[in-house]
Amino acid sequence: MSAIGLRCRVCESQYPTLATGSCVRCFGPLEPVYDWATISVSREQVESGPRSLWRYAPLLPVEPPADADAGPGWTPLVPAPRLARELGVGEVFLKLDHCNPTHSFKDRVVAVAAAKAREAGLETLACASTGNLGNAVAARASSLGLRSVVLYPATTEPEKLRATAVYGGEMVAVRGSYDDCSRLVVELSGELDWAFVNVNLRAYYAEGSKTLAFETAEQLGWELPDAVVAPIASGSLFTKLWQGFEQLQRVGLVEGALPRLHGGQAVGCSPVAAAYAEERAVSPVRPATVAQSLAIGAPADGDLAVATARASGGAIHAVPEDDVGENMALLARAGGVFGETAAGVTVGALRAAVASGTLGERDRVVLLVTGTGLKTPDVAPAREPAEIAPDVDVLLDELGVAA
Ligand SMILES: Cc1ncc(COP(=O)(O)O)c(C=O)c1O
Ligand SMILES: [Zn+2]
Repeated sequence: MSAIGLRCRVCESQYPTLATGSCVRCFGPLEPVYDWATISVSREQVESGPRSLWRYAPLLPVEPPADADAGPGWTPLVPAPRLARELGVGEVFLKLDHCNPTHSFKDRVVAVAAAKAREAGLETLACASTGNLGNAVAARASSLGLRSVVLYPATTEPEKLRATAVYGGEMVAVRGSYDDCSRLVVELSGELDWAFVNVNLRAYYAEGSKTLAFETAEQLGWELPDAVVAPIASGSLFTKLWQGFEQLQRVGLVEGALPRLHGGQAVGCSPVAAAYAEERAVSPVRPATVAQSLAIGAPADGDLAVATARASGGAIHAVPEDDVGENMALLARAGGVFGETAAGVTVGALRAAVASGTLGERDRVVLLVTGTGLKTPDVAPAREPAEIAPDVDVLLDELGVAA
């Protein structure tokens, strides 16, 4: 294991690698510190590793679990030439992270947090969730024989609630927003010796998202794309993508210019996009968006996400609410992939980047599909099936085909 400590992002105080949520001096967020001088990792070593995110164990802050071969991660990266033509981009690759065990990228962050929880001997995995995280927490807890407790806004899509309930974890629907759930979980973490994956284990949890950058580069033959487009809620995924690409370069696994990072938020919950556009600090909002998985009004890593977009030469885009479903349909019809509302937002961010002239025919772009449309099935416009009697003439007639 290569992390040698945790460090406060604000005041740089150092801590041991324990389940500590934030800096006791300034309440700043903590991040793992690696001893880069001692980390040596080759392409061959990675390529002969498990077909899961644990192939990158030397760049993660925990030891791989016993079932490291079982996933998550190592999801397909597929070209989408028709979508690229439709959008006016040179090349588009789709990172199919809805192919993870609970159908979102959250299995990555939970894998790392749960490994740390195990190491620390914690027996309950808990979180506040906008939907997908709870699915991943409940599933991983059940496979490890741990208890799980998930707090959701009561308005969460029924498909996501069901996809947590099925694992037998405990669920609490809170009459409030995600930010209310998050506050309750922070209060609870002061009382209970549990593994709160996005509170006292956040430093480890967040590192799971780096593996999206690692896989993207490896699957492109250890080359970096020109740009990556990702959705933003708390900003953790977006900021860790950048760290992931930087770290690959630092250990010599890739060379060349780092990708420009483009982020997307739906207009109805766009505190990070607004801060980017208005060149100011992020201020909290009350979410009202169809993209419920991205409905975090007070994003913990919002300011860092803005700084990351600028440092990378990318941008953060606010996507109109009415476009989210249309973009999901476009991704399905031109890319063959049914992504969730977050993917509709991500496609919208790519469209906005093309419209502003920052991405186009010269660029090779990777678009992250972070969750499945089957959990948000009603948002994309789709035709109802024609219902007919079981008669071939009726069928031919219905299809408009002459016999
Ligand atoms: C499908 C999906 N994509 C993206 C995100 C954004 O993640 P982050 O909070 O790391 O910005 C979420 C968060 O819940 C999500 O569920
Ligand atoms: Zn501090």
